[in-house]
Amino acid sequence: MTVAAAITAVSDDAIAAAAAILRRGGLVAFPTETVYGLGANALDDRAVAAIFAAKARPRFNPLIVHASDQAAAARYAKFTPLAKRLAARFWPGALTLVLPRTSDCPLSLLVSAGLDTVAIRVPDQAVAQRLLAASGLPVAAPSANASGEVSPTTAAHVRDSLGDRVDLVLDGGPTRLGLESTVIGFDRDRAVLLRPGAIPRDDIETITGSLHDASPGTIQSPGQLASHYAPRARLRLNAAHAEPGETYLAFGPSPAEHNLSRKGDLTEAAANLFAMLRALDAQAPGTIAIAPIPERGLGEAINDRLRRAAAPRTP
Ligand code: TXA
Ligand code: MG
Repeated sequence: MTVAAAITAVSDDAIAAAAAILRRGGLVAFPTETVYGLGANALDDRAVAAIFAAKARPRFNPLIVHASDQAAAARYAKFTPLAKRLAARFWPGALTLVLPRTSDCPLSLLVSAGLDTVAIRVPDQAVAQRLLAASGLPVAAPSANASGEVSPTTAAHVRDSLGDRVDLVLDGGPTRLGLESTVIGFDRDRAVLLRPGAIPRDDIETITGSLHDASPGTIQSPGQLASHYAPRARLRLNAAHAEPGETYLAFGPSPAEHNLSRKGDLTEAAANLFAMLRALDAQAPGTIAIAPIPERGLGEAINDRLRRAAAPRTP
């Protein structure tokens, strides 16, 4: 029998308990402004290994380290002038930077999954910041779902996905953005979009100029694996309507029961995306037909997630 982890409302005591769990190598799920993270002490290999175990995640997938501010991040990663400008503009916030590890970097090697780089971000969410401050630790945290499932945007999603494989779930309510952070890497001094996310490409390009796309042969984020986001249901994309037997997920004005955003608002659609896919997947394991989503602003990240979720499974 699976026993679900305790979901705990946020209080000073709950934050102190969560910090103690992190310090002794346990796992704490916590809200960020993007999605819930499955956190462990990033200095502790065994704690980090417990993340991979809990998620049943492929081992070659490196994790994001959450730091309290840029000064903390600079102890772990080497910042170029361009990386500093990005951090100054977007931190705290939904931007992850993939940078070379410092020569005396104390982070677990497992967080980098064998690479000489580390993915790092400073979250803009009060509960996440309180946890970082109370623990005094850098916190490694992938999205708090079992591998291959959609990312959780509520504490209940975490409990449903991970059950007793997490020691404590801090409940900070639904996440504000509902879509993971944008991941930026560097190829010499050129910025490369490794994963579209909650900060749109255009916003980042105000600092970097034209972003390069990750393509085979250049540096690539292992999270770009085609089957990373995989609901059980089949997805049919760019569908004008449902065929018999399909469930329709609309976008924009429509009489359909399920709608990512009746107003056609991409930010609202991003915030709804994972919760709606999860609900439809549970309720209609056949085929979900999804309306076309415009490829502008957050639409790029939404379409990226949808294409991955629709890709044929790799065994
Ligand atoms: O919004 C988010 O980013 C959430 C919250 C919890 O912060 N975290 C999240 O983590 O989405 P995760 O582990 O599900 O995704 C991390 C992404 C993956 O695409 C991974 O491959 C990439 O970052 N990544 C991590 N370290 C990397 C590295 N050293 N080089 C290239 N890509 C890296
Ligand atoms: Mg994930």
